[in-house]
Amino acid sequence: MKKIAIIGAGTMGHSIGLSAAWSGQSVKIFGVDARDLETAQKGFEAKLRLMAANGLISDEQVKEIAERVVFTNSLEEAVKEAEFIIEAVPENMELKHNIYRQLEGLAANDIIIASNSSGLMPTALAEGMKHPERFVLTHFWNPAHLVPLVEIVGGEKTDEKTLQQTKTLIEQMKKQAVLLNKELPGFIGNRLQFAMFREAQALLDAGVATKEDIDAAVTYGIGRRLPVTGPLQTADLGGLDIFHAISDYLFEDLSTDQKPGPTLSSLLEKGELGTKTGSGFYQWPQAQSEAVQGKREEALIHFLKQDMEKQ
Ligand SMILES: NC(=O)c1ccc[n+]([C@@H]2O[C@H](COP(=O)([O-])OP(=O)(O)OC[C@H]3O[C@@H](n4cnc5c(N)ncnc54)[C@H](O)[C@@H]3O)[C@@H](O)[C@H]2O)c1
Repeated sequence: MKKIAIIGAGTMGHSIGLSAAWSGQSVKIFGVDARDLETAQKGFEAKLRLMAANGLISDEQVKEIAERVVFTNSLEEAVKEAEFIIEAVPENMELKHNIYRQLEGLAANDIIIASNSSGLMPTALAEGMKHPERFVLTHFWNPAHLVPLVEIVGGEKTDEKTLQQTKTLIEQMKKQAVLLNKELPGFIGNRLQFAMFREAQALLDAGVATKEDIDAAVTYGIGRRLPVTGPLQTADLGGLDIFHAISDYLFEDLSTDQKPGPTLSSLLEKGELGTKTGSGFYQWPQAQSEAVQGKREEALIHFLKQDMEKQ
């Protein structure tokens, strides 16, 4: 069992903590104040209940997992005795640099400091660190306790040992580790996700179809296959002659927009940010938002159960 410190108790922090505790690690989660910690604790407990209700874990495990986790607003307390640190504070370079300065003052030189940044480059994040060789990027996906992928990315100064120890820990957490050979913005997952998001915006802005039909073309089409075969395996199954021929005439027609599309920009200007404000591309009354999120969690649990049966 490893002692893990999670710095940040928000959306990602508490669900990464849950994931670690589920795999048997002892976890301390740092949050900024009592309110932050209360929200995190409530989120943590609700997630545990949902996991139990869907048969992922037993009632006994709910208790055991909860007992492995301590919430604290003291950075010192969170890091004391930690053997591995995962930072999950807001996506702000200056803030993260400030946190690393404090962490380097509290943790021994060989303790790995990992960041959950969504797309900031590890070399830039590690700038100013005394021991950048122990810095690494571990990109968990939301919700971290239900999505298996964790991308691991090293910066220019990251040690090979740091990468390998991180991969071992991520695998002990029963996650699907993907170790990149080099750093680049967006890593792998977000580059692929945003290539599709750019094209979806271009289709919507050009009036090719309704937003519902654009989404349906994914969820009822390629989305049905993607849980089983990624884009390269899919091409092998379809026939590379066909995929080459299509690439040859289609690539030059795909969107190459360098900035977010007009519909997205106008929604942003109006403060319509999606479920968190009640509207975005779609309208999101509370009940609808909860229903869709619940449906997504159920599907994620379904796939997770399949993964567990294979183990
Ligand atoms: N939300 C996602 O879908 C998602 C997915 C993958 C990666 N990430 C990345 O994970 C990181 C955390 O994102 P999040 O969505 O959990 O953010 P969040 O805003 O939900 O939570 C951030 C947490 O950081 C802590 N914090 C806030 N201000 C702080 C400060 N000044 N000093 C120290 N701690 C502070 C608090 O505990 C807060 O709850 C970001 O780098 C983000 O890009 C987010």
